[in-house]
Amino acid sequence: MRVLITAKNGQLGWELARTAPAELTANNDLLLQDSTELDITNALQVMQRISEFKPDIVINAAAYTAVDKAESDADAAYAVNERGVKNLAQACKEHSAKLIHVSTDFVFDASKNTPYQPGDITGPLGVYGASKLAGEKAAQDILGGDVAIVRTAWVYSVHGNNFVKTMLRLMAEKEQLGIVADQVGTPTSANNLAAALWALASVMHSGSDRLQPLYHWTDLGTASWYDFAVAIQELALEQGLLNKAIPVNPIKASQYPTPAKRPAYSVLDSTALRELTAMSGVHWRKALTLMIKELAQ
Ligand SMILES: NC(=O)c1ccc[n+]([C@@H]2O[C@H](COP(=O)([O-])OP(=O)(O)OC[C@H]3O[C@@H](n4cnc5c(N)ncnc54)[C@H](OP(=O)(O)O)[C@@H]3O)[C@@H](O)[C@H]2O)c1
Repeated sequence: MRVLITAKNGQLGWELARTAPAELTANNDLLLQDSTELDITNALQVMQRISEFKPDIVINAAAYTAVDKAESDADAAYAVNERGVKNLAQACKEHSAKLIHVSTDFVFDASKNTPYQPGDITGPLGVYGASKLAGEKAAQDILGGDVAIVRTAWVYSVHGNNFVKTMLRLMAEKEQLGIVADQVGTPTSANNLAAALWALASVMHSGSDRLQPLYHWTDLGTASWYDFAVAIQELALEQGLLNKAIPVNPIKASQYPTPAKRPAYSVLDSTALRELTAMSGVHWRKALTLMIKELAQ
């Protein structure tokens, strides 16, 4: 199996690199590209790179992920999240490669209060979610059964910027914090997501007829941002990343206005991908513990 990965310096791209099967690296069957080596908005560059490397599978970890900025910069969001994905899908089609594309819980509008299934009706609340949904559609229109889309949520890693690192910084700087308690989802380790994507790549490469067009992947369990923040502080104190506890208070989303509206409930049901890959999944708090321990090393 030959695999090309975009955005090797993003949270997910970096975790895909460090969890890659050893034989791919040993056999020069893995090509990791950062955004300067492969800009997915550059159709010619995308076509050339895929033509030269001839991957069996492309895993797209590249995205415009600035959720709030997207509200005032829709062109930039769509350029990467829709047209960039289209470029990858067209090059994959031309060179008979399959595509694994990563999408988001923000394609949903939080009208449910039970976990979202991959086939549930979408209804993004903002530009970022709408641009990601447009990318899903573009990939499916071009590649049909040769693309698998994996939606995920609340992603963090030891590498890159994320809620965990922001909380650790603020908890060291501030006397107290108010954190949104009426938005619920599932914190997800990019490391676990990467492992699931490698397992999916292997199933896709085997030519399995059990594949579905859309999957969800998160760690297990649910939390509000407030629950997540409380757990981060507890674990960081245990591991010596923080030396004093500060009060963390629950607030309403309406008390913390942001340019982009966020879903109040965006728990994703990952059962189908867990069954396909035979990966049982890990509770988010256990995954967070491992991440905080790694940060503390
Ligand atoms: N983070 C989350 O909480 C979250 C939640 C749900 C879904 N997701 C999805 O999960 C996937 C991975 O996200 P992540 O957390 O790893 O994001 P991230 O850390 O923000 O990384 C995004 C990467 O995309 C690259 N990129 C941006 N524009 C590009 C372009 N034109 N060509 C090539 N690369 C480009 C960036 O490179 P530069 O930095 O060099 O620009 C960066 O390395 C994305 O599809 C995202 O939509 C993330």
